[in-house]
Amino acid sequence: MHANIVVLPGDGIGPEIVAATLPVLEAVAARFGHAFGFQEHDIGGIAIDRHGEPLPAATLEAAQRADAVLLGAVGGPKWSDPNARVRPEQGLLAIRKGLGLFANLRPTRPHPAALGASPIKSHLLEGVDILVVRELTGGIYFGDKTRSNSDATDLCRYTVAEIERVVRRAAELARTRRGHLTSVDKANVLETSRLWRDVASRVVREEFPDVTLEHQLVDSMAMHLLSRPRAYDVVVTENMFGDILTDEASMLAGSLGLLPSASLGAGKVGIYEPIHGSAPDIAGKGIANPYATILSAALLLRHSLGLEQEAAAIEAAVSDALDARVFTADLAAPGQAVSTTQAAAAVIERIQARDLAAA
Ligand code: NAD
Ligand code: IPM
Ligand code: MN
Repeated sequence: MHANIVVLPGDGIGPEIVAATLPVLEAVAARFGHAFGFQEHDIGGIAIDRHGEPLPAATLEAAQRADAVLLGAVGGPKWSDPNARVRPEQGLLAIRKGLGLFANLRPTRPHPAALGASPIKSHLLEGVDILVVRELTGGIYFGDKTRSNSDATDLCRYTVAEIERVVRRAAELARTRRGHLTSVDKANVLETSRLWRDVASRVVREEFPDVTLEHQLVDSMAMHLLSRPRAYDVVVTENMFGDILTDEASMLAGSLGLLPSASLGAGKVGIYEPIHGSAPDIAGKGIANPYATILSAALLLRHSLGLEQEAAAIEAAVSDALDARVFTADLAAPGQAVSTTQAAAAVIERIQARDLAAA
């Protein structure tokens, strides 16, 4: 197949992890007989520097026309003045909103070879397989904001329709897994959470009688996620809770550099990006973990291009590389780390070597 992939490297380690991932997609194309076209555009801080805005119209238009978007990360100290007129992060929010990508899938499956990198005891991690579905285009991120000399406000608003569509997407995914859905909110305090809880209960009761729904408050969820991670299958939650809980969930896997994501809407186009940020503390050193971005490329093949076998080939190659302890500095024992490029090369070798019949 021919596919047009818009590539948005962004800032910090973004260009490094994206540059490591494109050859992986090329290797898949060669192995399986596809042609992927890559069209690079600016987003985030680099777009502010070059065009004066974090999401130039040309970037959004290219993304709207593309089959899928692969993104690195945005932001960094250079653009973080609290009084700045524009911020890199606004570009990311605007492209998610502009493409209508309301459901952000963030899977966590600790790999046996990396359990030692997690601060959580290994016996709690075996068999953990959690999919967080984070609402991505509503809530406090997108409500009206005000700022005066004496105060500031961020409005948190959710509509029934916004809750219905993301809960429906999460329940559909639960149906293809273990049939268990946990909806996380703060219904003991927030009105938006009480609406969320009502709508989630109704959608699952009326449309997904085969899915078991449980509600959990976000504060105790933050605790249970670490104390009994095996209890969770699909977790659906609002925008900000999902942001925070998934960085926490990355510690089950052992590194933020292992968690991919897929941002999906009603159509085929999606944005695929690691859940982590631009990691300014390690940018430019060639040591960032590329696996989260490579695994995001696998999600791209699966969700936007419908290439399941190809997606599985990437996931198997990353898994094999982890088994072989091909670890970047975030996972490796001292003195044992490979570079970003070496980790990607290990994945490519395994894609090339893999018996297709077995993939
Ligand atoms: P971060 O996720 O960038 O980094 C947190 C920590 O994790 C750092 O110590 C970093 O070195 C480490 N880390 C992250 N990714 C890694 C990888 N692939 N390999 C090895 N280590 C990795 O979070 P932060 O430092 O709070 O934010 C930095 C900037 O990134 C901010 O400007 C923030 O707004 C932005 N950000 C962007 C995105 C995005 O583009 N989707 C996501 C989160 C944060
Ligand atoms: C993420 C990031 C973004 C978010 C920021 C950079 C806007 O933290 O993708 O998780 O909060 O959604
Ligand atoms: Mn985040």
